[in-house]
Amino acid sequence: MDILTIQGGKTLHGELKISGSKNAALPILIATLLTDERCTLRNVPYLDDIETVIELLAFLGKKIVRDRDEIVVTAGSALQAEAPYELVRKMRASIVVMGPLVARLKRVKVSLPGGCAIGGRPINIHLDGFRRLGATIELEQGYVDLKAEQLKGARLPLEFPSVGATENLMMAASLIPGRTEIVHAAREPEIEDLSAFLNAMGARVTGAGSDHITIDGVERLHGAIHSVIPDRIECGTYMIAAAMTKGSLLLQHASASHLSALIEKMEQAGIEIDAKDTTIRVKGPAKIRPVSLETAVHPGFPTDLQAQWIALMAISSGVAQVTEQVFENRFMHLPELQRMGADIQTKGNTATIRGVESLSGAEVMVSDLRAGAALVLAGLVAKGTTVIHRVYHLDRGYEHLEQKLSAVGANITRSKE
Ligand code: UD1
Repeated sequence: MDILTIQGGKTLHGELKISGSKNAALPILIATLLTDERCTLRNVPYLDDIETVIELLAFLGKKIVRDRDEIVVTAGSALQAEAPYELVRKMRASIVVMGPLVARLKRVKVSLPGGCAIGGRPINIHLDGFRRLGATIELEQGYVDLKAEQLKGARLPLEFPSVGATENLMMAASLIPGRTEIVHAAREPEIEDLSAFLNAMGARVTGAGSDHITIDGVERLHGAIHSVIPDRIECGTYMIAAAMTKGSLLLQHASASHLSALIEKMEQAGIEIDAKDTTIRVKGPAKIRPVSLETAVHPGFPTDLQAQWIALMAISSGVAQVTEQVFENRFMHLPELQRMGADIQTKGNTATIRGVESLSGAEVMVSDLRAGAALVLAGLVAKGTTVIHRVYHLDRGYEHLEQKLSAVGANITRSKE
């Protein structure tokens, strides 16, 4: 297994190009199951999660050709209705194959998902929506079996604005006769990007980006060309890296409008930000002010930047509180940050972070993707050497992580354990 070794204390300076969004690219790749025609997707990042979804699509009958950041998906063999455990367990996002497959084949059997270990992460909201659209559901031996004699558009009030459930139901509804309304829908930018791709395929989706999405089902969808939005979480992580190292980074191919909550909090912390449409310049201050926050669904502060924010607060000049409201078990980075000298106390889903003068390098272990990002950030400013184990979690979501950081001045290398 790979490890990352970081010599802390380097200031980051220069320019970084933000990659395409993992969380937008995954459902968009899966949406190609809605047609047999050719789909071309651009700005798709090189990531293990993307490889997993390519493998899954190939298993389900698609032919996939990749050339740099472009992926072309065409029909290979007949569509399969079953997504097996070996492929789905690696990545929770795989369950959104349910939507396209049930709409096209009237039957789908998917293994219950795996993915990051950040809480229960059930799929009851997805299943409730499919039931309302007319599917019957059986759960057995770790598989969900969805059958539909006849699906019909319906009103789907979501108990919580789940990103995955909104995507799953939006995709299914695109090919289901009648009007579907997703009420209390997720509003994340990735939902808007999926809706743009579906509409390019001939779907009739309106309201994506608001909490009320309307889909008028069409009989068939056709091929389309689409460029994926920038990865706001990767961008946010590098913005925090610039601030923590007291450096200055110009992030290109970014989308500032997707990061308003982070930008607001960073400015409160005394960090200088100059955000244009597609570029964000960040300059770290001499002292980082403590800023408390709660994670929330979009447009609130993203849970996927919570761990990185705690790393930033670990070296602030005071006391901050961070409350995690989206996932129930998303503090696994805290013990590792404490081993690096961070002063953090936890009560329920709130962490109280007392900023320290400096962190110290240590051997640490990554528990999930964004926890890993927090450890890299801490390693960049820690005194001495930080060795990060279980880097495979980071490879799921950060394209060319050590190359990008090295290019702007970090001392970070990858090697075999
Ligand atoms: C997506 C993102 C992930 C991000 C999360 C929240 C992808 C591939 N992943 O995950 O990076 O952290 O949104 O912004 O896009 N829940 C239920 N029942 C359900 C579905 C969800 O209780 O049927 C709960 C989950 O346990 C969790 C919360 O809702 O506590 C949010 O989950 P959801 O919005 O569905 O996140 P994902 O789509 O899994």
